[in-house]
Amino acid sequence: MSNRKIILITGGTSGIGKETVRKLSFTEATVVFTARDAKKGESTKKEITEETGNNNIGYLLCDLASLTSIKECAREFQKRYNRLDVLINNAGVLPQERQESKDGIELNLAVNYLAPFLLTNLLLPLLKQCAPAQVVNVSSSLHAEGMINFEDLQSKKSFDKYKAYAQSKLALILFTKKLAKKLDGSGVTVNALHPGVVGTEMTMQNVRKMNPITAFIYKRTLITPAQGAETSVYLATSPDVAVVSGEYFVSKKISHASPLASDKAVAEKLWDISAKLVGL
Ligand SMILES: NC(=O)c1ccc[n+]([C@@H]2O[C@H](COP(=O)([O-])OP(=O)(O)OC[C@H]3O[C@@H](n4cnc5c(N)ncnc54)[C@H](OP(=O)(O)O)[C@@H]3O)[C@@H](O)[C@H]2O)c1
Repeated sequence: MSNRKIILITGGTSGIGKETVRKLSFTEATVVFTARDAKKGESTKKEITEETGNNNIGYLLCDLASLTSIKECAREFQKRYNRLDVLINNAGVLPQERQESKDGIELNLAVNYLAPFLLTNLLLPLLKQCAPAQVVNVSSSLHAEGMINFEDLQSKKSFDKYKAYAQSKLALILFTKKLAKKLDGSGVTVNALHPGVVGTEMTMQNVRKMNPITAFIYKRTLITPAQGAETSVYLATSPDVAVVSGEYFVSKKISHASPLASDKAVAEKLWDISAKLVGL
């Protein structure tokens, strides 16, 4: 087995994910990212290989809005690579209207939460085999505005784009904390983070709806995608946090997640529902 560290990042073709791939490619690691479009995957790989001189950059096609595609991606990863040291669940969406995944699941829940839940569970045996290993989940400070609405988990009765997004990001932290407990003693850590409010497409789609003065002022508060990638890179590489698990980080520091994120009964119930939804 090669000793070169292997890092897998979801959503490596835009925004924070692409900058995470770029920064990690300056290290000795093999960096693999997921792309949902082959052309974008190729051009990202070429651009970052040329810039960093790292010839060990690869990508896998994966539509995180499809359970079949996620399962295929996990299979393909294990076929191509013999180890996994760090998994960064970065990809996310903030749809303006209610949408469903290929499997008919509300899109925030599917891409922001169930995709990391499934991908992580599928790759856990390999992570454990390569311990010490890390899972890094990109959540959001907006999780604090959310609650887990078991009565209408998929916003079928009523949809509010921020509530649905916040619920999915809260679910990701509940998953992070519960998984950390399950992995205690395994050498695999799992942490969540808020990357900051970042000038990526996800944010700009909302900025474009603001009046010009508000948009101008708001844009000045945004950090760059490269700055937004810093906490992910820190959690993936720093020895300072190598044994920290089950925490929520902001600006490279442990921070308080919403009290709801530590509700064990909710975490338990959500885990069971999620396992059924993804067919685990
Ligand atoms: N921007 C912020 O201020 C902010 C704040 C808090 C948290 N976050 C979180 O940070 C993470 C990265 O967001 P970002 O700001 O960098 O957004 P972004 O620029 O819109 O990038 C999102 C990434 O996710 C990928 N993606 C979306 N849907 C996918 C699907 N169905 N299958 C596979 N990949 C998919 C996109 O692929 P394509 O390249 O093909 O589009 C892209 O690589 C997200 O989890 C987001 O919720 C962002």
